[in-house]
Amino acid sequence: MRLARSISELRALRAGLPEPVGFVPTMGFLHEGHLSLARRAHKECASAVASIFVNPTQFSPTEDLAAYPRDLDRDLAMLESAGTDLVFAPASDAEVYPPGYATWVTIGGITERLEGASRPTHFRGVATVVAKLFLLVRPQHAYFGQKDAQQALVVDRLIADLNFPIELVVAPTVREPDGLAMSSRNTYLSPAERSAAPVLRRALDLAEFLWKSGERNAARIRSAMTYLLDAEPLARVDYVSVADPSTLQEPETLGPRTLVSLAVRIGKTRLIDNTVLPPGSPLLERRTSCS
Ligand code: PAJ
Repeated sequence: MRLARSISELRALRAGLPEPVGFVPTMGFLHEGHLSLARRAHKECASAVASIFVNPTQFSPTEDLAAYPRDLDRDLAMLESAGTDLVFAPASDAEVYPPGYATWVTIGGITERLEGASRPTHFRGVATVVAKLFLLVRPQHAYFGQKDAQQALVVDRLIADLNFPIELVVAPTVREPDGLAMSSRNTYLSPAERSAAPVLRRALDLAEFLWKSGERNAARIRSAMTYLLDAEPLARVDYVSVADPSTLQEPETLGPRTLVSLAVRIGKTRLIDNTVLPPGSPLLERRTSCS
């Protein structure tokens, strides 16, 4: 496995990679969720590239940029064991955003809802760094997790609108045995908060159960989930959304595919999770395959 700490090193090492290239962008402090993407890129593509960069532009000034957990040596060992060929871990923020940096990718529509409504500049930062990474790494396939469903939808829009010749693969959410979605931010939870956190998965299980019982009224699904979440004293609901995955509009009656997503604060830690109805449906309409 090779490591690039600068853009010039990345360009030189990328030039020697066999194609097709699969790419896994991350912010590091890796867990099994990230590794499932890295292993899949290794299995499905001739070369696997990962990036580790805590992207400052997707955090608002009040968010956890300074506290975001980092452990580059551990991350590199994990990526190597997952078969990654090349890691781009910029040595400084200025490598990606040099003095005078002024170019932004803003995406309309779906970025204004859910995470975008709670975190207004977040997706501008995500779309900008992902576009830059796509231009530098030039992958044929990009691997993202369904855990961040709206982010995957935003990247799908970015690829379509800017004609990136990249196939987006959205991989399933990897969970702890008690159902909590793996996240680098889970390390912030105290033991009591960690015990409370699986309430997010239980709310999604309830939505799946109601759907299987024939419920198609969005408001009733939302209020049943909110009731369950409110019963957990350590949980504070930010949003519960029952939406059409192609527009993120909230219909009164469920259509053929529905994205149920939620953001909940457990203590000071904000956690997100989602499921697609009917249970087991893909997030994106078209099925992807990597070859
Ligand atoms: P990060 O939170 O590190 O996540 C990197 C990738 O791992 C994302 O595609 C995310 O959806 C996926 N992922 C996280 N937890 C997962 C889980 N439990 N199961 C499956 N996949 C999971 O998302 C970002 O970084 C950044 O916004 C980034 C795209 C790198 C841009 O800065």
